[in-house]
Amino acid sequence: MTSQPLPRPETSGTPTSSAAGTRLDPWLGSYAERTHGMRSSEIRALFAVANRPEVVSLAGGMPFLDGLPLDALSQVAASVVAERGLQALQYGSGQGDQTLREQILEVMALEQITAHPDDVVVTTGSQQALDLVTRVFVDPGDVVVAEAPSYVGALGVFRAYQADVVHVAIDEHGLVPAALEETLAALAAAGRRTKFLYTVPNFHNPAGVSLALERRPQILEIARRYGVLVLEDNPYGLLGFDRDPWPALRSYDEDGVIYLGSFSKTFAPGYRVGWAVAPHAVREKLVLASESAILCPSNASQIAISSYLSTCDWRGQVKSYREMYRERRDAMISALSEHLPEASWTVPDGGFYTWVRLPEGLDARDMLPRAVTARVAYVPGTAFYYDGTGADHMRLSFCYPTPERIREGVRRLAGVVSGERELVELFGTGGGASDDDVVSPAPNIP
Ligand SMILES: Cc1ncc(COP(=O)(O)O)c(C=O)c1O
Repeated sequence: MTSQPLPRPETSGTPTSSAAGTRLDPWLGSYAERTHGMRSSEIRALFAVANRPEVVSLAGGMPFLDGLPLDALSQVAASVVAERGLQALQYGSGQGDQTLREQILEVMALEQITAHPDDVVVTTGSQQALDLVTRVFVDPGDVVVAEAPSYVGALGVFRAYQADVVHVAIDEHGLVPAALEETLAALAAAGRRTKFLYTVPNFHNPAGVSLALERRPQILEIARRYGVLVLEDNPYGLLGFDRDPWPALRSYDEDGVIYLGSFSKTFAPGYRVGWAVAPHAVREKLVLASESAILCPSNASQIAISSYLSTCDWRGQVKSYREMYRERRDAMISALSEHLPEASWTVPDGGFYTWVRLPEGLDARDMLPRAVTARVAYVPGTAFYYDGTGADHMRLSFCYPTPERIREGVRRLAGVVSGERELVELFGTGGGASDDDVVSPAPNIP
């Protein structure tokens, strides 16, 4: 029997790639409506260039892993297969490995969370937990309230589920309670249903600020009063430079908060292990949603992390990360003071990022191609707003480059800013924000 070529699909008149000899997408008319929000942008291409060694990238949010004890970790990896290979290479529980869930409780105890292993759902990074929570709660057009600015990867998820994101102001002490109250009141008055409040209370990505202790119960009280669930995303909470972790929002309120944690920044992102802690009924839905997405998180990764936690000094590793990132923060802040005094910035006391306000009239997105030409990269503030505003800010990361590279990067950036200011003085302000923005994180800008 000879095989016949299958007929080409009908594609509502769109030229097919072979017919037109182009790379036009023959499936353009077939995509689900929700994919319309999944846009990439022109700056994604720039980040490919930004990864070249001659460019100092202050853009990426990748942890610096060189200090990891690779010898010990290779023994861990070998023992996972040698001692527990048949389990590690098999499917596992949709909710995650029981032993790891117990160990996660020890990690969270540092932030005063008390929970039961049954409350924990292991996920493929906290990014998957963001996806699951949004899938479980958000119908198209539902409101998600999020800080202004917010983590670009969360905004990408909200957009993919066709949420309507309403931003609430933050200041140097995190989310502003009065602004939250005002926003929730206005939404309620307009008859809009707010599904949850998304917040990164510690060492915020991108703003670098933390929610002040006295504001934590206030935020929860306001959310409770308006019947709004809180989604607490906390990958950086243990990475404070000069202080112990503050109590998580979840430690004040077990019923009103879904907490997300991750091993990506306190250990390594490569195993892709994160988790959610949720009220009982929510947790059941998250497990069902996760099973439908991935059946179960990787057993091999979970057992490797579990064995790392039980055989290596993970607390010592977190301490050495804190010291290393503090030194890099210091290099960043002193370089900004020296080279860019006309800008202003947050001084983070933990985490990976500082949030820089550019001098009047400058547009961080317009300026980016010139910065990359000058061999320095950053993420324009527009990436962190749902509506494409924020062009007067940029996020600078100090996690990955060495202190010397950070100083060199800021020096180059200062040259670009000064050239840009001259242009603005000569020709007036640049292009300004549009909605054609970064809407999904480039792979290297978590
Ligand atoms: C605020 C925030 N949430 C979630 C994530 C996702 O982390 P992961 O999926 O690696 O746990 C990141 C990564 O940078 C982040 O900054």
